[in-house]
Amino acid sequence: MKYFMGIETSCDETGVAILDENSKVLSNALYSQASIHKEFGGVVPEIASKNHLEKIIPMVEHSLKTAGRHIDEIDTICVTNGPGLLSCLMIGVSTAKALSLLNDNELMPINHLEGHIASCFIENVVDFPAICLVVSGGHTSIYYLEDEINFKEISSTIDDAAGEAFDKGAKMLGLGYPGGIRIDEVSKNANKEFHTFPIPELKNSLNFSFSGLKTSLRYYLEKRGDWEKDINDIASSYQEAIVKSLIAKIKKASLDYKPKSILFCGGVACNSRLREVAQSELTKFKTIFPSKIFCTDNGAMIAMRGIQKKSVSKKKSPLNFPVFSTIRKFKKD
Ligand code: KG4
Ligand code: ZN
Repeated sequence: MKYFMGIETSCDETGVAILDENSKVLSNALYSQASIHKEFGGVVPEIASKNHLEKIIPMVEHSLKTAGRHIDEIDTICVTNGPGLLSCLMIGVSTAKALSLLNDNELMPINHLEGHIASCFIENVVDFPAICLVVSGGHTSIYYLEDEINFKEISSTIDDAAGEAFDKGAKMLGLGYPGGIRIDEVSKNANKEFHTFPIPELKNSLNFSFSGLKTSLRYYLEKRGDWEKDINDIASSYQEAIVKSLIAKIKKASLDYKPKSILFCGGVACNSRLREVAQSELTKFKTIFPSKIFCTDNGAMIAMRGIQKKSVSKKKSPLNFPVFSTIRKFKKD
């Protein structure tokens, strides 16, 4: 049996997981820095990287112990090398390089977005062709998947990501950070039709736009004043606008690309209302949402992507691979 380690440190989660070659998750250690960044209202890169540095070795040890494996038994160490916060990526990549030099494990750089897509395969069988909505704090894109290796981006946001819209909206409403989960919580049992927040349709396009939404929330709050008593209904209406926009584009993509499965991944795929609307409105397709622990950043999805890549390529990565912070277009490999 071959074993894969996945290391993820691109933002504010330190994740180290061990999967076997059959994609069974043997451990998925995760340390979230959310409570540390809360007081700043967002992720502070220097504080994030300092915390990754403190946590990464204990997390590696914990993950190996939980999986009942020794570092010598790990065939491939998979590590996120971008996109993400440069100083944070460097902690994961340096750790992976040091481990592999010491223990002679193979090293494999993994694109963070490919990792998110791979999270859909950990617990599910995907029927192809498929389309996948990657919806996180930094990205909102739809991918067309021919199979688990070959995919291409078919749409993206032209401004903010959906997770950013959740986080910025939550900040305006005084709900704190991270915002998506707070809006989700207060929206339960609230009136989603309380107010209609407009989202530009970008006609004949699969692209998204969310920057106008936060502006309309700001104007609405300023104009209304004394809105605090209706905060849950306002949050729920705001969430509804985001969900409706995501589902509308997914529906359009499904008409254009005729997939058998529709996949959702990234932190925003934890959203209860998005899950509810997808299940009720996309009944003609196999809809796949990973468990919530695999939606937000984690090491298991990085190891999963390593397993997929290893199955088609025997080529070893050079030890001097770079880290990158910008969004890389997907390439067929
Ligand atoms: O995938 P992720 O952990 O990190 C990035 O790669 O960005 O996604 C984080 C994003 C944040 O914007 C957070 O507010 C959002 O996912 N999020 C949610 C929920 N849980 C996390 N958004 C809406 N509803 C949720 N339940
Ligand atoms: Zn992510």
